[in-house]
Amino acid sequence: MKIAKLAPSILSADFSNLSRDIDLLTEAGAEIIHVDVMDGHFVPNLTIGIPVLASIRKITSLTLDVHLMISNPDIMVPRYIEAGADIITVQYEASCHLNGTLNRIKDGGARAGVALNPHSPVHLLEEVADICDMILVMSVNPGFGGQSFIPSRLEKIKKARKLLDIVNPEGLIEVDGGINSVNIAAVAEAGADILVAGSAVFGVSGPADGFKSLNSALKKVNR
Ligand code: DX5
Ligand code: ZN
Repeated sequence: MKIAKLAPSILSADFSNLSRDIDLLTEAGAEIIHVDVMDGHFVPNLTIGIPVLASIRKITSLTLDVHLMISNPDIMVPRYIEAGADIITVQYEASCHLNGTLNRIKDGGARAGVALNPHSPVHLLEEVADICDMILVMSVNPGFGGQSFIPSRLEKIKKARKLLDIVNPEGLIEVDGGINSVNIAAVAEAGADILVAGSAVFGVSGPADGFKSLNSALKKVNR
Protein backbone atom coordinates (compact mmCIF):
# COMPACT_ATOMS: atom_id res chain seq x y z
CA MET A 1 0.00 0.00 0.00
CA LYS A 2 1.32 3.43 -0.97
CA ILE A 3 0.95 6.09 1.70
CA ALA A 4 -0.50 9.38 0.50
CA LYS A 5 0.92 12.54 2.04
CA LEU A 6 -0.66 15.86 2.84
CA ALA A 7 1.41 18.87 1.75
CA PRO A 8 0.28 22.15 3.32
CA SER A 9 0.51 25.13 0.98
CA ILE A 10 1.99 28.11 2.79
CA LEU A 11 0.14 30.40 0.39
CA SER A 12 -2.51 30.47 3.13
CA ALA A 13 -0.03 30.93 6.02
CA ASP A 14 0.40 34.05 8.10
CA PHE A 15 3.37 35.55 6.23
CA SER A 16 4.31 37.69 9.22
CA ASN A 17 4.71 34.46 11.21
CA LEU A 18 5.91 32.03 8.57
CA SER A 19 8.55 30.44 10.77
CA ARG A 20 6.01 29.85 13.54
CA ASP A 21 3.48 28.35 11.11
CA ILE A 22 6.10 25.98 9.65
CA ASP A 23 7.11 24.92 13.19
CA LEU A 24 3.46 24.21 14.02
CA LEU A 25 3.06 22.11 10.87
CA THR A 26 6.25 20.21 11.65
CA GLU A 27 5.06 19.39 15.17
CA ALA A 28 1.72 18.29 13.71
CA GLY A 29 3.54 15.77 11.49
CA ALA A 30 3.97 17.48 8.11
CA GLU A 31 6.80 16.14 5.95
CA ILE A 32 6.32 18.33 2.88
CA ILE A 33 5.79 22.08 2.56
CA HIS A 34 4.22 23.24 -0.71
CA VAL A 35 5.54 26.63 -1.86
CA ASP A 36 3.46 28.44 -4.49
CA VAL A 37 5.55 30.78 -6.62
CA MET A 38 3.52 33.18 -8.79
CA ASP A 39 4.96 35.86 -11.05
CA GLY A 40 2.02 38.17 -11.81
CA HIS A 41 2.33 37.16 -15.47
CA PHE A 42 1.59 33.45 -15.90
CA VAL A 43 -1.04 33.92 -13.21
CA PRO A 44 -2.60 37.20 -11.98
CA ASN A 45 -1.01 37.03 -8.54
CA LEU A 46 2.45 37.61 -7.08
CA THR A 47 3.80 35.56 -4.20
CA ILE A 48 7.02 33.98 -3.00
CA GLY A 49 10.42 34.81 -4.47
CA ILE A 50 13.93 33.45 -4.06
CA PRO A 51 14.97 35.30 -0.85
CA VAL A 52 11.86 34.02 0.92
CA LEU A 53 12.48 30.42 -0.17
CA ALA A 54 16.13 30.69 0.95
CA SER A 55 14.97 31.97 4.36
CA ILE A 56 12.49 29.10 4.68
CA ARG A 57 15.27 26.64 3.80
CA LYS A 58 17.29 27.93 6.76
CA ILE A 59 14.57 27.14 9.28
CA THR A 60 13.30 23.73 8.11
CA SER A 61 14.56 20.37 6.94
CA LEU A 62 11.14 19.35 5.59
CA THR A 63 10.82 18.65 1.86
CA LEU A 64 10.30 21.95 0.05
CA ASP A 65 7.95 21.31 -2.86
CA VAL A 66 8.17 24.39 -5.08
CA HIS A 67 5.37 24.95 -7.59
CA LEU A 68 6.48 27.47 -10.20
CA MET A 69 3.46 29.23 -11.69
CA ILE A 70 5.73 31.48 -13.73
CA SER A 71 6.47 32.22 -17.38
CA ASN A 72 9.88 31.19 -18.72
CA PRO A 73 10.66 28.81 -15.85
CA ASP A 74 14.02 27.87 -17.41
CA ILE A 75 15.50 31.19 -16.34
CA MET A 76 14.58 30.75 -12.68
CA VAL A 77 14.99 26.99 -12.14
CA PRO A 78 18.71 27.10 -11.18
CA ARG A 79 18.06 29.90 -8.70
CA TYR A 80 15.21 28.05 -6.97
CA ILE A 81 17.40 24.95 -6.73
CA GLU A 82 20.18 27.04 -5.21
CA ALA A 83 17.69 28.54 -2.75
CA GLY A 84 16.89 25.06 -1.45
CA ALA A 85 14.00 23.51 -3.41
CA ASP A 86 13.79 19.72 -3.14
CA ILE A 87 11.07 19.34 -5.76
CA ILE A 88 10.48 21.83 -8.58
CA THR A 89 7.30 21.64 -10.62
CA VAL A 90 6.86 23.74 -13.74
CA GLN A 91 3.60 24.39 -15.54
CA TYR A 92 3.25 22.52 -18.85
CA GLU A 93 1.63 25.62 -20.35
CA ALA A 94 4.61 27.85 -19.47
CA SER A 95 7.33 25.56 -20.82
CA CYS A 96 8.58 25.70 -24.41
CA HIS A 97 11.38 23.17 -23.87
CA LEU A 98 9.93 20.86 -21.29
CA ASN A 99 12.28 17.94 -21.82
CA GLY A 100 15.29 20.21 -21.30
CA THR A 101 13.71 21.93 -18.30
CA LEU A 102 12.99 18.65 -16.52
CA ASN A 103 16.51 17.40 -17.16
CA ARG A 104 17.95 20.67 -15.88
CA ILE A 105 15.98 20.33 -12.64
CA LYS A 106 17.18 16.76 -12.17
CA ASP A 107 20.79 17.59 -13.06
CA GLY A 108 20.61 20.32 -10.42
CA GLY A 109 19.78 17.71 -7.80
CA ALA A 110 16.04 18.35 -7.33
CA ARG A 111 13.10 16.17 -8.27
CA ALA A 112 11.20 17.36 -11.36
CA GLY A 113 7.46 17.75 -11.72
CA VAL A 114 5.09 19.02 -14.41
CA ALA A 115 1.75 20.64 -13.58
CA LEU A 116 -1.25 20.47 -15.90
CA ASN A 117 -3.82 23.24 -15.78
CA PRO A 118 -7.44 22.02 -15.71
CA HIS A 119 -7.78 22.44 -19.50
CA SER A 120 -4.59 20.56 -20.41
CA PRO A 121 -5.14 16.84 -21.08
CA VAL A 122 -2.91 14.13 -19.65
CA HIS A 123 -1.86 12.86 -23.08
CA LEU A 124 0.23 16.02 -23.55
CA LEU A 125 2.75 14.41 -21.22
CA GLU A 126 3.11 11.12 -23.13
CA GLU A 127 6.53 12.06 -24.48
CA VAL A 128 8.02 13.26 -21.17
CA ALA A 129 6.26 11.20 -18.51
CA ASP A 130 9.21 8.80 -18.39
CA ILE A 131 11.43 11.56 -17.00
CA CYS A 132 8.84 13.21 -14.71
CA ASP A 133 9.33 12.44 -11.04
CA MET A 134 5.86 13.84 -10.51
CA ILE A 135 2.74 14.92 -12.42
CA LEU A 136 0.77 17.67 -10.68
CA VAL A 137 -2.93 17.67 -11.59
CA MET A 138 -4.32 21.15 -10.95
CA SER A 139 -7.84 20.83 -9.57
CA VAL A 140 -8.45 24.60 -9.75
CA ASN A 141 -7.19 27.25 -12.16
CA PRO A 142 -3.88 28.37 -10.66
CA GLY A 143 -3.44 31.78 -9.09
CA PHE A 144 -5.35 31.85 -5.83
CA GLY A 145 -6.08 29.76 -2.78
CA GLY A 146 -9.60 29.12 -1.58
CA GLN A 147 -11.19 28.05 -4.87
CA SER A 148 -13.53 25.08 -5.29
CA PHE A 149 -12.26 21.68 -6.42
CA ILE A 150 -13.31 20.86 -10.00
CA PRO A 151 -14.96 17.42 -9.52
CA SER A 152 -14.19 16.07 -13.01
CA ARG A 153 -10.50 16.17 -12.06
CA LEU A 154 -10.94 12.80 -10.32
CA GLU A 155 -11.03 11.08 -13.72
CA LYS A 156 -7.96 13.04 -14.78
CA ILE A 157 -6.03 11.84 -11.72
CA LYS A 158 -6.81 8.24 -12.74
CA LYS A 159 -5.63 8.94 -16.31
CA ALA A 160 -2.37 10.46 -15.04
CA ARG A 161 -1.79 7.44 -12.79
CA LYS A 162 -2.38 5.10 -15.74
CA LEU A 163 0.16 6.97 -17.87
CA LEU A 164 2.79 6.78 -15.12
CA ASP A 165 2.06 3.10 -14.49
CA ILE A 166 2.96 2.39 -18.11
CA VAL A 167 6.12 4.46 -18.53
CA ASN A 168 7.30 5.38 -15.03
CA PRO A 169 5.64 3.42 -12.20
CA GLU A 170 7.79 5.12 -9.54
CA GLY A 171 6.45 8.54 -10.57
CA LEU A 172 4.15 10.37 -8.17
CA ILE A 173 0.81 12.10 -8.68
CA GLU A 174 0.23 15.36 -6.85
CA VAL A 175 -3.13 17.14 -6.75
CA ASP A 176 -3.47 20.83 -5.91
CA GLY A 177 -6.45 23.10 -5.31
CA GLY A 178 -9.68 22.98 -3.36
CA ILE A 179 -8.84 19.90 -1.30
CA ASN A 180 -10.77 19.75 1.96
CA SER A 181 -12.13 17.29 4.52
CA VAL A 182 -15.10 16.45 2.28
CA ASN A 183 -13.17 15.46 -0.86
CA ILE A 184 -9.74 14.40 0.44
CA ALA A 185 -10.58 10.68 0.58
CA ALA A 186 -11.91 10.64 -3.00
CA VAL A 187 -8.79 12.42 -4.26
CA ALA A 188 -6.50 9.90 -2.56
CA GLU A 189 -8.61 6.96 -3.77
CA ALA A 190 -8.35 8.27 -7.33
CA GLY A 191 -4.56 7.90 -7.08
CA ALA A 192 -3.02 11.05 -5.56
CA ASP A 193 0.24 10.47 -3.69
CA ILE A 194 0.71 14.07 -2.53
CA LEU A 195 -2.34 16.18 -1.70
CA VAL A 196 -1.83 19.93 -1.42
CA ALA A 197 -4.12 21.94 0.82
CA GLY A 198 -3.92 25.61 1.74
CA SER A 199 -7.14 27.09 3.05
CA ALA A 200 -8.37 23.80 4.55
CA VAL A 201 -5.18 23.58 6.64
CA PHE A 202 -4.79 27.22 7.69
CA GLY A 203 -8.32 28.56 7.43
CA VAL A 204 -10.31 26.79 10.10
CA SER A 205 -8.64 26.63 13.50
CA GLY A 206 -4.96 27.20 12.81
CA PRO A 207 -2.38 25.11 10.97
CA ALA A 208 -1.76 22.46 13.62
CA ASP A 209 -5.40 21.46 14.05
CA GLY A 210 -6.14 21.94 10.35
CA PHE A 211 -3.26 19.67 9.36
CA LYS A 212 -4.11 17.00 11.92
CA SER A 213 -7.78 16.78 11.04
CA LEU A 214 -7.18 16.58 7.27
CA ASN A 215 -4.32 14.15 7.76
CA SER A 216 -6.40 11.82 9.89
CA ALA A 217 -9.07 11.75 7.14
CA LEU A 218 -6.28 10.88 4.68
CA LYS A 219 -4.90 8.08 6.84
CA LYS A 220 -8.25 6.28 6.79
CA VAL A 221 -8.03 5.84 3.02
CA ASN A 222 -6.97 2.39 1.82
CA ARG A 223 -5.24 2.41 -1.55
C1 DX5 B 1 -3.31 27.54 -6.49
C2 DX5 B 1 -2.10 27.02 -5.73
C3 DX5 B 1 -2.48 26.10 -4.62
C4 DX5 B 1 -3.25 26.73 -3.52
C5 DX5 B 1 -4.11 25.70 -2.85
O1 DX5 B 1 -2.87 28.30 -7.56
O2 DX5 B 1 -1.23 26.32 -6.58
O3 DX5 B 1 -1.35 25.41 -4.11
O4 DX5 B 1 -2.43 27.31 -2.54
O5 DX5 B 1 -4.93 26.37 -1.99
P1 DX5 B 1 -6.36 25.81 -1.57
O6 DX5 B 1 -6.11 24.52 -0.85
O7 DX5 B 1 -6.88 26.88 -0.70
O8 DX5 B 1 -7.14 25.61 -2.83
ZN1 ZN C 1 0.44 24.89 -5.78
